[in-house]
Amino acid sequence: MPRKKIALIGGGQIGGVLAQLIAQKELGDVVLFDIVEDLPQGKCLDIAEASRVDLFDNSIKGTNDYKDIEGSDIVIITAGLPRKPGMSRDDLLVTNAKIMQTVAENVKQYAPNSTVIVVSNPLDAMVTLCQKITGFPTNKVIGQAGVLDSSRFSTFIAWELGVSVKDINALVLGGHGDTMVPLIRYANVNGIPVMELLERKYNDKTKAKEVMDAMVNRTKMAGGEIVKLLKTGSAFYSPASSSIAMVKAILFDEKRVLPTCAYLNGEFGINGYYVGVPAVLGANGAEKILELTLNDEEKAMMDNSVKAVKELVADMERLGF
Ligand code: NAI
Ligand code: 2OP
Repeated sequence: MPRKKIALIGGGQIGGVLAQLIAQKELGDVVLFDIVEDLPQGKCLDIAEASRVDLFDNSIKGTNDYKDIEGSDIVIITAGLPRKPGMSRDDLLVTNAKIMQTVAENVKQYAPNSTVIVVSNPLDAMVTLCQKITGFPTNKVIGQAGVLDSSRFSTFIAWELGVSVKDINALVLGGHGDTMVPLIRYANVNGIPVMELLERKYNDKTKAKEVMDAMVNRTKMAGGEIVKLLKTGSAFYSPASSSIAMVKAILFDEKRVLPTCAYLNGEFGINGYYVGVPAVLGANGAEKILELTLNDEEKAMMDNSVKAVKELVADMERLGF
């Protein structure tokens, strides 16, 4: 069987780590595309030169020519600029939407049978635009945000409880922004509700709630926390790892249930928008959305997040995309 081919559009921080992870895990042949001359070629040569040490023999090609992504099975899009000082939200939206337009047109032309994972921000708008331009089935254009947001939430819970993060299940729904919805009630340690463990730890319900609220807020602001520390960019290791989990689920038809920015056709009462929800990921992309019961408070938070996504998409349309 020929190797799978994975195209990475955007050879910056996340793109570079993605190329290395895909090579090291031997998930498929890699094509790393960027508009900056020599950058993707340099990164791929550097990664390839570790192949004897790490024992992988995938093809890893850096390119500035879209033709090289021809026949890709999976395309991961990280092309885009981060928000710079003085740049408004609209400025960023216009800049990255213009980039997404070109990227999506080329993906449509050269990789028409691919499944696309969008990572570029503003995430919910960029996935929407990518699907609109490619015209690919909505199940085959999805966004990465929830895997990362949920992993961040899980990490904070593990640190707080002093248990292995491997045993934490915590889900974050909604858009990839301040309105995201970390689900407290469903967060558990191998089935034991996290709130119950916090209440036991502090022997005080109010304190336990305060600790949980602090973790929820940290999760919502986690992207900004990293930006503040790095000063010159945003998170890239964890977004790359999160995208890899989605790639694996699709390549190996794993049917993993991962929080995914997926197109909704009435699920959760939402129609015609991309929102972060639990989805079954397999060979056909987002094969199924799994709904869950939300109480009034959770529903209000989800509605608020969906409202923010709708406003973002409306802004993008107002700006001509
Ligand atoms: P980066 O700035 O290191 O890389 C972006 C790359 O895109 C650059 O190499 C740039 O040359 C390239 N690029 C610009 N215009 C292009 C075009 N027209 N065609 C192809 N490539 C083009 O940024 P980084 O850190 O890799 O982040 C990438 C994106 O991912 C950003 O939009 C960032 O905000 C977003 N992000 C999303 C996360 C998520 O969970 N969804 C998490 C972290 C970042
Ligand atoms: C993050 O969540 C900025 O979206 C980026 O790290």
